[in-house]
Order: sequence, then C-alpha cells, then structure tokens
Amino acid sequence: MTDKRLLRVLRGEAVWPPPVWLMRQAGRYLPEFRALRSQADFITRCMTPDIAVEITLQPIRRFAMDGAILFSDILILPWAMGQGLKFVEGVGPVLEPIRTREDLDRLQPERVAEVTAPIMQTLRRLRQALDAPGDETVLGRGSAGATTLIGFAGSPFTVACYMVEGGSSREFLEPRQMAYADPALFDRLIDMLTQATATMLCAQIDAGAEAVMLFDSWAGLLPPGQFRRYVIEPSRQIVREIRSRHPSVPIIGFPRLGGLLVGEYAAATGINALALDTSADMMAAAALVPDGVALQGNLDPLCLVTGGDGMGHQIDVIRDAMRGRPHVFNLGHGVLPQTPPEHVAALVERVRRT
Ligand code: CP3
Repeated sequence: MTDKRLLRVLRGEAVWPPPVWLMRQAGRYLPEFRALRSQADFITRCMTPDIAVEITLQPIRRFAMDGAILFSDILILPWAMGQGLKFVEGVGPVLEPIRTREDLDRLQPERVAEVTAPIMQTLRRLRQALDAPGDETVLGRGSAGATTLIGFAGSPFTVACYMVEGGSSREFLEPRQMAYADPALFDRLIDMLTQATATMLCAQIDAGAEAVMLFDSWAGLLPPGQFRRYVIEPSRQIVREIRSRHPSVPIIGFPRLGGLLVGEYAAATGINALALDTSADMMAAAALVPDGVALQGNLDPLCLVTGGDGMGHQIDVIRDAMRGRPHVFNLGHGVLPQTPPEHVAALVERVRRT
C-alpha cells in the first residue's frame, strides 16, 4: 500500500494539498496527554506499550494528521545502553555525564535490542491500529490506511551532546570541547551511536515504522569541518545501512540550523526528505537540494501559539511557495506547551484547503 499521501511525498511526488503532521504533536499542550502524565513517569510512559500507543494516537484522533510519530524520546537510546537518565519537571532530561574513556566503556550498546523491545511492540500495535479497515473506535471513520507511522532517533551528534553535557544546554560546551580536546574519545562515542542508531531504526522498521526521521537538533552549533565529520558522515552511514536492508523506506533528516550546509547534507547523506527549521527560506533550500528530495517544514511554532490571521498568512506563504514540489507541511521545531489545541485544528484545516 503506497497511496498514503505522506509516503508519496517522501518518495518525491508533489501532492496538493500537502500532507501535514507536527513535531511534538503529542505533548503537554493536549489535556488528554496531561491527564496521562500523573499515571507514570516519562520513561515508563515511553516503555509501556498501552500508554505509548494511546499517546501516539491522541493527536491523530483529534486532527487526523497524515503522520503518527512514535511516542518515545531520542534519549531512550543512551538510557537503553545503561546511562542514568531522569526527566525532571521544569528542568528537562538529567543524565550521568560521559566524560572519560571509562565512562564510555561502561555503556552496553549490546543491551539496546532487549531493552527497547517494548517500543517495538508499541510500533507493531500502532501499525495495526492505523491500518485496521473500519476500526472507527480507534481513529474515526474513514481514516484507516491514511496515516503513515513514523519512527525516529536522535542523530549521533545531538544524542552525544546530551550524553556528554549531562542534560539540556543552550551551548553544549562540554561535548564541543571534548571534540577539540580528545577527538579520539568523541569519535568513539559518535561511532558507537552511529551503529546503535542504525540498528535501532532498522528494528523500528521491522516492527512497522513506514518512514524514519533523524533529529539533529544541535547540528547548527558546529563549524563546517565538524559539521561534515559529526553530522553529515554519521548520518550518511546510518542512511546507507538502513537502505541496504530496507531500500524503499524513506528517511527524513533534520539538521537543525544547518544553514548553508543543508544542501551538502541532503546530497551527501542521501536522505529522502530534508526537514527545515524556522530560520530556513524554503525556496532557497529547494535550490540547494538534489532533485527529488522532499522538503518538510517550517512554520514558526510561535505562530501556532498566537493563531488567527497571522498564522493563516504564514501557512499560506509556505504552502504556496512549495506548491508543485514534494512538500510535507510541518513546524520548524516542536509544538510549544502553551499552544491552544484549537489552533492546531485550524492549522490542519488551513493546510488542507483546496
Ligand atoms: O510527538 C512527538 O514528536 C514524538 C515524541 C518525541 C518526544 N521527544 C517526546 C517528548 C520526539 C520525536 C522527541 C525528540 C527529542 N527529544 C528531541 C529532538 C527534537 C527537538 O525537540 O529538538 C530532543 C532534543 C529531545 C530531548 C528532550 N526530551 C528534551 C530536551 C526534553 C525536555 C524538554 C521538554 O519539552 O519537556 C524532553 C522531554 C520530552 N520528550 C517530552 C515529550 C512529550 C516532555 C515530557 C513531559 O513533560 O511529559
């Protein structure tokens, strides 16, 4: 079945009106998500198929998005390797930092498949729920077979940023200094993550993911030489490995704030679609990428907080500029927690106007 609108675009076809889904479409802005938060901590929610399936489907039921992104987190991978991780209310993720060779040697990438087995179970159930003909109890009438299931991982550089820093940061000085001061150690970490990420994404595809996305949220922190070494090269290896096993599964890359290097990123990695952050001019990006590479993005998430005509105008500008090209409508970064859900409904309605 290849007639899902999102899949067609990811394979390089121009579809009008464009398919739409949103990064962080499952999250705190939805009352039904907040209601589930009291039941279990964040990692437990990711690792319990009943809960993760429910949270993934919440935005699909409300808005009939073209894409359902697995509810999980990019930091589940280091956690599955044995790195201590907590999500602290009001702070974000807190990890036991990796700073030395000994810290790195304690990680156990060979454990990942076993530890992440419940996530694969979640994907199998999601695929069944999304594609079940006539099961309107799950999704509403008529939508079976229309929504593409998206798996994901963080890119090695972005995941390494959190692992070495020990949490969120605006600058990530610790990992960036490690890359200069002890490149052999940083290379080892990146190589370990590259292999583990490719293996995990293949497992997600085996479990039912129809497309996968690589989030490189902090790619834009690097100077060009390091961008090539730590963003482009690992992503190229991950794409090559996935392609060799699953040649027809589209891969979306998101080198956030990659600026002038996004064209080289798209060409060298071989991704099928390039997700763009809010700073990117979509037409300028279109001129930089190889023919047939779809673009995804890139409405300012703040527009969705304010809504109204301002949002409507910004949606039209992006949608019209991309008309006739393979384009997936999305935000330039994740949905903000203060977003009114009605604005998301209005966005979807506006994107789908013919
Ligand atoms: O809906 C979806 O997009 C799918 C699930 C998803 C989450 N995180 C759930 C989540 C995805 C794809 C991510 C990716 C992710 N996680 C990224 C890359 C994209 C980006 O935003 O740049 C990054 C850097 C992370 C790491 C992370 N996870 C941080 C920094 C935080 C704390 C900040 C915050 O928003 O709370 C998280 C927690 C997190 N991941 C939440 C969700 C819904 C919030 C948890 C909660 O409050 O219940």
